[in-house]
Amino acid sequence: MIPRDTVDKIIDAARVEEVIGEFVTLKKRGANLLGLCPFHGEKSPSFTVSPVKGIYKCFGCSKAGNSVNFVMDHLQLTYPEALKWLAKKYAIEVIEKELTSQEKEQQTERESQLIVMQYAQRYFTEVMTNTDEGKSVGFGYFSQRELSHALIEKFQLGYSLEERKAFSVAAIKAGYAPKYLVSTGMSILSNSFVEGSTITEKDIFDRYAGRVMFPIHDDGGRVVAFGGRTLSNDKKVAKYINSPETPIYNKSKVLYGLWHGKKAIQKVDRCYLVEGYMDVIAMHQAGFENVVASSGTSLTVEQIKSIHRFTKNVVVLYDGDEAGQKASARAIPMLLEEGMNVRLLFFPNNDDPDSYSRKVTADDFTNYVHNKTEDFLYYKANKLNTETKNDPIKKAGVIKDIVESIAIIPDNIIRSVYVKECASIMQIEEAILQQETNKVRKKLLGKIFQSKQESESPENALDTLPPEELETKVEEKEELLKLDAEEKELLRLLIAYGNAYVTIEAEDENLEKFDLEITLGEYIFFELMRDNIKFENPVYAELYDEYVNELSNQRLPDLKYFANHQNPLFSSFVINHVYQKDELSVHWKNFGVIVEAEIKKLINGTQKTLFSYKARKISALIDDSLVLLKESDDNQTELIQNEMKQLLEMKKRVNKLLGRIVIK
Ligand code: CTP
Ligand code: MN
Repeated sequence: MIPRDTVDKIIDAARVEEVIGEFVTLKKRGANLLGLCPFHGEKSPSFTVSPVKGIYKCFGCSKAGNSVNFVMDHLQLTYPEALKWLAKKYAIEVIEKELTSQEKEQQTERESQLIVMQYAQRYFTEVMTNTDEGKSVGFGYFSQRELSHALIEKFQLGYSLEERKAFSVAAIKAGYAPKYLVSTGMSILSNSFVEGSTITEKDIFDRYAGRVMFPIHDDGGRVVAFGGRTLSNDKKVAKYINSPETPIYNKSKVLYGLWHGKKAIQKVDRCYLVEGYMDVIAMHQAGFENVVASSGTSLTVEQIKSIHRFTKNVVVLYDGDEAGQKASARAIPMLLEEGMNVRLLFFPNNDDPDSYSRKVTADDFTNYVHNKTEDFLYYKANKLNTETKNDPIKKAGVIKDIVESIAIIPDNIIRSVYVKECASIMQIEEAILQQETNKVRKKLLGKIFQSKQESESPENALDTLPPEELETKVEEKEELLKLDAEEKELLRLLIAYGNAYVTIEAEDENLEKFDLEITLGEYIFFELMRDNIKFENPVYAELYDEYVNELSNQRLPDLKYFANHQNPLFSSFVINHVYQKDELSVHWKNFGVIVEAEIKKLINGTQKTLFSYKARKISALIDDSLVLLKESDDNQTELIQNEMKQLLEMKKRVNKLLGRIVIK
């Protein structure tokens, strides 16, 4: 670990205009510098660097951060890697902190595994380029599948010799410990191995003998696993064998192709989701680099979230065969639920992207991909409509089908657009489709409520309303914006003034009043905790959790802590919502003191936001309960009524507090 003071030293030295200037041409414009944003393609510059604040911000794609964030993003490095990169540039010596023996052990395990994987990747490539068997069998196979040399290199493809111990023996000879060959899954223990004894060469054999090798990279471009394809057509042999789950390979998180594709995904703002290794590579060959595959598992929510970091737009290109249809039937609802815009692309005759790309010319393939991509819901609505044409009874039956897909979309506005469009495609009344969608959403909401999940997303709270109550809906939308604004304001106060000591009037157990001196941060925390209030906005919730986490470790995170945080969401929050509007915090930061009158204003302002936010949250919960009450059966009713009683009491208390605050 890099010690905190070295981190500070690096951050102080790394002048933002100097660091960014290495990669982007910057021109002076007033107090700032201006250039073309490296994160999205643009023709006129909207990328601004502020040397005074030490930050950059793009007004085109709203990327923002400090010099460390820039290096992370631009060079695709992790936080410690970016720091080390900068340290090198500024000749700052980095002496990493001693780890505890447990940390060391974990780190050694992971690091050793990463080193083994790096060796393995180089070994398989070497075998494919420099051995007779590798050249004729391995390279021959990829050539027959029409992969270019450039792509074979880019994806670091390789070949594992037929001889069943070839890799294990070579690795041991090169100095790699057999236990790591086994723990990475590269070698397999033989049945005769006696548990507890030391693993030696005779106890292990290769997992991938006689297969072509696809290295799987993590987000930082490190090889963490392999997929190995058999060259045999024997149906009894598994077509692909993949690495097992290991400390460095979390199957549900890693996406094949993400490392090679993330820049393109970001730039094009769209991600193609395919089924196989070869499909990813074939798409690259056809000029589409924004592509990933969920290798070795069916698509997981974590994988979807990691696509979502780069784009909201996904095109599903699964095979038309039965397995592919099943996989997409499973994946699409998950994508919709995550709030992704889902589009579909089918290839004719059960082709996959790889096989189709080899049947047609490059231009035809490109045109096909561009022209045949269809929005999933419109596709479905059209299909259902054709199937049930002129048969109103059948049509009534399939409404449920489309409604299930629409109802899981979290965003209100997008959902209502779909209701409208799908109603028009299927020639049914919009109100009917809306009503059915509301019903399904209520059920979904009910399920969440029953499982006592507390943090519902704000959209969900809105949507139990019947469509005719349009006015209420508009009000609720405004309500939602206010909630968001209040959360933002609370966070701003936390970050800018969380460390300021304030005096609060408190009550002890005997309801005696006394003055309590605490930091503003602690005060906000206690107030939110006592009513179990959780932030709605997931980014704000994450920031708040970080704050609380620091507090619980006896630390008082300040503005600098968040501005220089490795999570770019945090630093951009500071840049967009704290720095820009807050003269006082700059003052506070510079002198470390706030005069008494300002403290008074601060505490009043905080309480006003805090209580009004709480009141709003509680009202929303009460509204939810009311809706649920209408729909609930007997044994739910009591539960909901009890919950409501508590909420009403809370509301009364908070409103009383709110009434007491006088803003001067
Ligand atoms: N897969 C796997 N294990 C298998 C079969 C498939 O892990 N036994 C995974 C692989 O990631 C594979 C993907 O599922 O790439 C899709 O499988 P499939 O469509 O059968 O293979 P293709 O990708 O079309 O492979 P190829 O073109 O090489 O035949
Ligand atoms: Mn294929």
